[in-house]
Amino acid sequence: MEEGRTSEPAAGGHAPHHDEDLDHDHHVLGSNALMREVWDGEVGRFWVEETDRYEQMNAGFGVRLLGAASAQPGERFLDIGCGHGARTLDIAAAVGPEGRVVGVDISGPMLEVARSRAAHRGLTQATFRQADAQTDSLGAAQFDGIVSQFGVMFFADPRAAFANLRAALRDGGRLVFTCWQDLGRQQRIMVPVTAALEHIPLPEFNETSWSHAAFSLADPDRIQSLLTTAGFANIVIEPLQLPEYQGRNVDDVVTFSQRTELAGVLFSQANPEQTARGWDAIAKALEPHATTEGVFLDGAAWLVRAEAGH
Ligand SMILES: C[S@@+](CC[C@H](N)C(=O)[O-])C[C@H]1O[C@@H](n2cnc3c(N)ncnc32)[C@H](O)[C@@H]1O
Repeated sequence: MEEGRTSEPAAGGHAPHHDEDLDHDHHVLGSNALMREVWDGEVGRFWVEETDRYEQMNAGFGVRLLGAASAQPGERFLDIGCGHGARTLDIAAAVGPEGRVVGVDISGPMLEVARSRAAHRGLTQATFRQADAQTDSLGAAQFDGIVSQFGVMFFADPRAAFANLRAALRDGGRLVFTCWQDLGRQQRIMVPVTAALEHIPLPEFNETSWSHAAFSLADPDRIQSLLTTAGFANIVIEPLQLPEYQGRNVDDVVTFSQRTELAGVLFSQANPEQTARGWDAIAKALEPHATTEGVFLDGAAWLVRAEAGH
């Protein structure tokens, strides 16, 4: 149960599906100023505290992303919404000392972690920049590749953002990213939420919550349309369903989940007795997913590859 003050939505429902809905997006998802406030503030600090958990959660997706990016020695890469920089450092290792990778993020607290890890590993080819990937120039035609692990769903104007990414790539350069499929396909969310709802009143989910943006690219037709409009070609969208680490054991997952925004929303209408029963039910529902390596629930993402058109 990864949600909440985290990178994730607090609620169900569907992202707008078609290009003509993009203006609607702007309204629904709010401005990047809000995202900056969220990620550069409390949410960023929350995930800094949970760095290890977050990285284990997404490790499987990271392997697939890196495989698809196939960074080669000497290449120049961007990592968009790089967060703590785990993938930036992987790319840095792949491009080697002759290459270059720039991690871009709006979150100061998360970039601090990324910078200190790069320094610790002596990866001087990795640098980090606090910037808005939608509105700030990333450099014209300077990069061979762009990667993003769950970092491209939070743009107020995705059309402008993907055009900005295209502009930073040389012709034929590649864009590779992961983004979440629909909320309903996320076992990591549906297992705990369904269990709790047996015992608590249905809360009012707010689709305009900043965190709902995590599902803004759930519709592959929309991804295709956005990327085509932005000047990308040869777009391939592959479903990935992978086990996601949630925590060491059931108690650890419950304690973590209780701090998330999703928990706040989910239990907002419940009295203390219902709340206690709800958390017991979540713990029971997690038990079958506990292994000696930790608790795992599936996450469903899209792995997207595209080429900067000529
Ligand atoms: C779900 S986290 C992913 C972090 C990292 N890629 C990872 O998987 O470990 C999303 C990241 O996107 C960043 N972000 C959101 N909007 C952004 C924007 N407009 N420009 C740059 N980064 C942004 C957030 O600060 C956050 O670090």
